[in-house]
Amino acid sequence: MLKEILKKIIPIGLRHKIRVLQYKFFGLDSKYKHLTAEDVFDDIYEKGIWGKDEQMNSTSGTGSHKEEIVGPYVEVVKKIIAENNINSVADLGCGDFAVGSLLIDYCNIYNAYDVSKVILDRNRIKYRSPNLKFEKLDLSKDKLPHAEIAFVRQVLQHLSNENIKSFVDQLNISKNFKYLLITEHLPYNPNFVPNKNKPSGPNIRIAINSGVILHNEPFNLKFKTMDNVLSINEHTGGFNAVIQTTLYEL
Ligand SMILES: C[S@@+](CC[C@H](N)C(=O)[O-])C[C@H]1O[C@@H](n2cnc3c(N)ncnc32)[C@H](O)[C@@H]1O
Repeated sequence: MLKEILKKIIPIGLRHKIRVLQYKFFGLDSKYKHLTAEDVFDDIYEKGIWGKDEQMNSTSGTGSHKEEIVGPYVEVVKKIIAENNINSVADLGCGDFAVGSLLIDYCNIYNAYDVSKVILDRNRIKYRSPNLKFEKLDLSKDKLPHAEIAFVRQVLQHLSNENIKSFVDQLNISKNFKYLLITEHLPYNPNFVPNKNKPSGPNIRIAINSGVILHNEPFNLKFKTMDNVLSINEHTGGFNAVIQTTLYEL
């Protein structure tokens, strides 16, 4: 309530400056640091922290719904699937499945995973297809599934370095996927320090002028080839960002 009133009376530019100072002094997502990943992301979906649709259902945010962001991504993924004869997909952190639902017709097996039971229960009712399965999985703790390609779209940007490192360590030793398609928000200005740490939570590293680069320290993803397949500029939460999609052959 107080938040809504302050939003109305404080101009957006000033709100942005206050937020940056807040992150500087108290840290980004610090209030989530003692929660498990499941509790963090269930809370986000229960409260609609990333937004709600017309039916007042919580969503995975604008990055999963804006046509100018989702449309080009879907076209690029369709091309990758066709060119590499991909049969099986593991969508890790599938969220509200607005994006995944546009891709299930282009492969034979589409397994979608998320750490939040809240969003998975809703997806199971809303989306049904013979080649589609939803399963609960914490990519930083659980054994990863097998598939020809894994999509990890706008997931790692929300996670702590410890969580990302456990995921990459598992990728580096297991050969579960042939390809890994990663989508992350990065600062528009390329002179940023990658992989600054933050607790797992709803915010992303853009607010602390950072972004996740998986093949850099401290994650050091091992890969055979790397291709930046899509870059979309976005102004988000008062910051200029690039939504970068990278295809790794592992
Ligand atoms: C911003 S949403 C993106 C959803 C979807 N990939 C998309 O692009 O529309 C991030 C999702 O990652 C999920 N997630 C966060 N941490 C996870 C983890 N450790 N394991 C699996 N999923 C996770 C969240 O629950 C959330 O649904």
